Amino acid sequence: MNMDQYLRRLPKVDLHFHLAGTLQPRTLFDLARKNGVNLPNWDETKIYDFRDFYDFLEVLECIARCIVSKGDFARVSYEAMRDAARAGNLRYAELFFNPQYHYPQGISYATMVDGYIEGLEAAQKDFGVEGRLIPSINRELGAGAALDMVRDVVGQPRDRVIGLGMDCAEYKGKPHLFVEAYAMARKAGLRCTAHVCEDNQTLEQAPPSHVMDCLDLLGCDRLDHGYNMLADPAVVRRCRDCGIACTVGTHTCIASRMQKRWDSVRKMRDAGLNLTLATDDPPMFGTDIGQSYVTAHEWLGLSAAEAADLALAGVDATWLDDGEKRDLRRSFSDEIAALKAELPAQPADG
Ligand code: HPA
Ligand code: ZN
Repeated sequence: MNMDQYLRRLPKVDLHFHLAGTLQPRTLFDLARKNGVNLPNWDETKIYDFRDFYDFLEVLECIARCIVSKGDFARVSYEAMRDAARAGNLRYAELFFNPQYHYPQGISYATMVDGYIEGLEAAQKDFGVEGRLIPSINRELGAGAALDMVRDVVGQPRDRVIGLGMDCAEYKGKPHLFVEAYAMARKAGLRCTAHVCEDNQTLEQAPPSHVMDCLDLLGCDRLDHGYNMLADPAVVRRCRDCGIACTVGTHTCIASRMQKRWDSVRKMRDAGLNLTLATDDPPMFGTDIGQSYVTAHEWLGLSAAEAADLALAGVDATWLDDGEKRDLRRSFSDEIAALKAELPAQPADG
């Protein structure tokens, strides 16, 4: 077994990926045809080519319009988990979906969430990978629409729905606007996270102060991205000291921005932040959870032991309860020990 195979076979969690961002082009074209949606192009090699972050968000919304029936939702979550289990031994995931992308088509929250759950259950049976769901606020639509969505979520609880997230363009919906929506979610027992300080937005659009607002005003238990916080050492210190986990991606929507991303992730690690690797929108960004660990090895210089520690740290960053975490940790540790035994000795690991 070589290093690449070891990294792919490590058991993993992924706590930040968007179901609408997991469609392989062929599945997307299939669903678009079936549901009569016109895509920007029908070329497998071009459909996930983006001009910038805002272009990417538009394509994502267009993809969401292709997912219509309960069976479509089930297909998407099933294939997402199947692909990640095969490509990188994904064992557990917390997946985002945006109800607000689907409301304009007259799709009920129950249709989407129950469809997604059906796909997760089937994937768990077939591939042994478990998934839970995080409905995510589209911050661009404002506070009132967010409250309506959270009301829908808390009014129709499902065991697999465990948290609330928030994504899309940060400058169009700053964290402080969503205090009420987050309070309602927390009161209903949901855990909370938010996309914040993403590096494909400027420091003015996504400033470090937004991290403070996510912690102090929204009560976030976890943060998605966080790179721009590096501009303010006091914010970095706060996150390091409270140990909050940041889900960081090795890939983003624009290939030319990847080097900057890796530099940021390396700095965040060096600053002692609690990081967990995530794929975000895997086929759209040209990755999968196995490839993300390979990239972290190549570009962040992670050794075999450090990669295993990162996979294990991911378990602690999940929103599983303590008993479930203990069980998952134990099964990861056993699998990792067996894998390490197959790997030729690594100089960096002594
Ligand atoms: N950032 C903001 N919005 C998103 C993302 C992201 O990484 N992925 C899907 N929607
Ligand atoms: Zn994301």
